[in-house]
Amino acid sequence: MRVSDVSLGLAFLCHVAQANQIPVQLASSSIDATSAPTSQWTDLTARPHDNATSQLIFDNVNSISQHWTHTRYRNGHSIIPGTVPVGTLLYHGRDSEELPTFPEWASTDPEHSFPFCGDRESNGTITGCWHLTLVATRSLKVLYFDGSSASNIKDGGTLDIQDLLVWGEVDPTRWLDERARINALCAWGKEFGLDGFFRMEMDFEIMLCDFSQGVELISTDYLASWWARHVTPPLWRPTERSAVRSSLLSSNETLAAKVLIFEAVRAGSWHNSYPGESRVVVDLTGFISLYDTTLAPSLVPLRQGLERWDHRTAGISATDLTGLRIRLSEVLSRGPDAVGSGVDWRTLYRVVLERYAERLELTEYLLNTTASHNVNDRASQIQTQLRVMLTPYILYTSRPTPHSISVSVDDSWALSVWQGCATRHTAHIHASTTLRSRLTISERLLLRALDETNREICRVVVRMWVAGVHAGLDSLIPLEGNKPAADPLLIVQGWRSEASALMQWLDWGVWVKCRPACGVEEMCYLPTWPFFWDMILDPEGKDERWKRPQPRCVRQFEPYSKL
Ligand SMILES: *[C@@H]1O[C@H](CO)[C@@H](O)[C@H](O)[C@H]1NC(C)=O
Ligand SMILES: *[C@@H]1O[C@H](CO)[C@@H](O)[C@H](O)[C@H]1NC(C)=O
Ligand SMILES: *[C@@H]1O[C@H](CO)[C@@H](O)[C@H](O)[C@H]1NC(C)=O
Ligand SMILES: *[C@@H]1O[C@H](CO)[C@@H](O)[C@H](O)[C@H]1NC(C)=O
Repeated sequence: MRVSDVSLGLAFLCHVAQANQIPVQLASSSIDATSAPTSQWTDLTARPHDNATSQLIFDNVNSISQHWTHTRYRNGHSIIPGTVPVGTLLYHGRDSEELPTFPEWASTDPEHSFPFCGDRESNGTITGCWHLTLVATRSLKVLYFDGSSASNIKDGGTLDIQDLLVWGEVDPTRWLDERARINALCAWGKEFGLDGFFRMEMDFEIMLCDFSQGVELISTDYLASWWARHVTPPLWRPTERSAVRSSLLSSNETLAAKVLIFEAVRAGSWHNSYPGESRVVVDLTGFISLYDTTLAPSLVPLRQGLERWDHRTAGISATDLTGLRIRLSEVLSRGPDAVGSGVDWRTLYRVVLERYAERLELTEYLLNTTASHNVNDRASQIQTQLRVMLTPYILYTSRPTPHSISVSVDDSWALSVWQGCATRHTAHIHASTTLRSRLTISERLLLRALDETNREICRVVVRMWVAGVHAGLDSLIPLEGNKPAADPLLIVQGWRSEASALMQWLDWGVWVKCRPACGVEEMCYLPTWPFFWDMILDPEGKDERWKRPQPRCVRQFEPYSKL
């Protein structure tokens, strides 16, 4: 393409765009931004306070049913009602062909249930194993516990919410008490007509309370076992015995174990990122978060000074626990006509995440690769990225006066950019009394968390952009004659600390990647329970890498990497 074609194309695009923009701009300016007072938009240096949790709720919502974030941060904080649609297949591996007559675990992927299948050979040899396939014959009502909520981690925190609900406390000695836990959960859920509980470990599972309700057996198969004749299968449903066995297994070189383990992890990885495990459809109008400081204020001081990995819900006060039970009971007892506002919160959250995730990452890369030899190029490239992020909110009149430049600290001319950026996605909700009146308690929490997170993203991006404008780096705002002698390295330094503080605060799972990216033969992996049993059970407890999972590349076929 010749240069003249490019400019012609651009001119054409601009022309069309202008023609199309007129009604849009009129429409948007006629909406009152929010019901919030304008004093909220006066101080671009006002950071969120230390105990803020909106960004954590934002990340939890964007990570619903996704394996990656919940493998990284294993201690769940969200409880969400959901449904398993009719026609969904579920799998169950067991040691007999009979359908269980008591609550049992069913998986969403056969890769996850197959390793549990066995048989009853009295002499201990294994030839085949029982694998049942079920289908939902109606919509199943389930409750989702986020985090690695099916992982039995001693002194962990993965099971806190479940144990609080059914036992009223977290008893550290009951970490492996899975049979009692499933029985108690199902007994508790009966009142609300719950068919089961949706949880996650190396892959997703549903604790199914009654195999004769809402599901139908469509196939009972005696499958060929992967286990060689004298090899004991690893029972992953933990008991004290299998805990020890699994730890042996991690050092066992048997191919079967490695294949089956890897394939269960691989199946889990299919649900790593959005939309995640979509065979449970969650209902955000009933979203409950233990990061909701109104619902669980007693957890605020407990989180103080702790890193996010160590956030737990075990220490919740009796009063707050009662409040949580009441909320849950309200949410689970709602009739089918309780629809809420109709806002698609998951998508709305996703829209905000997508607008910034890659761009902030690219900005971070550009900042990371800036040195004195390329600082002039980089500074203007970064300024372009900042302007790109803010383009829908930079009005024709959004520019500094010569005075504000010379003083160099007056950024009031940019406050409207901040406000536009921070409020545009939800202004219509705040402005509509009808919509507002239909918001459920959960939706009000979702609205606040979205607004506060978006506000901080916009605050930081606007501040960075303004710094570039004042330094004369913005090609669209030339500083006629007033150009101050700003040192671009200083600007970059300021940008770096702003960007890194923002990205740490947001802490989005999409930024956690294997760097450099894995090769074709590999898969990017985060340490996943129970494959660090040996570290947990190690009496010396020296190897604590499992506590703060970092991604690494592992081989997808033999010889497999140690997981
Ligand atoms: C166990 O029983 C099976 C048949 O059920 C037989 O084929 C196998 O040889 C027996 N194994 C041992 C170790 O006795
Ligand atoms: C590991 O493999 C060896 C040799 O194949 C076998 O004897 C042993 O029972 C296996 N251990 C486990 C825990 O499966
Ligand atoms: C954060 O919470 C702690 C513990 O409740 C409290 O002492 C502190 O004042 C809070 N900080 C802010 C900024 O609200
Ligand atoms: C930028 O550098 C930091 C610190 O070394 C690193 O953690 C981060 O992954 C880098 N980001 C990008 C996008 O290269």
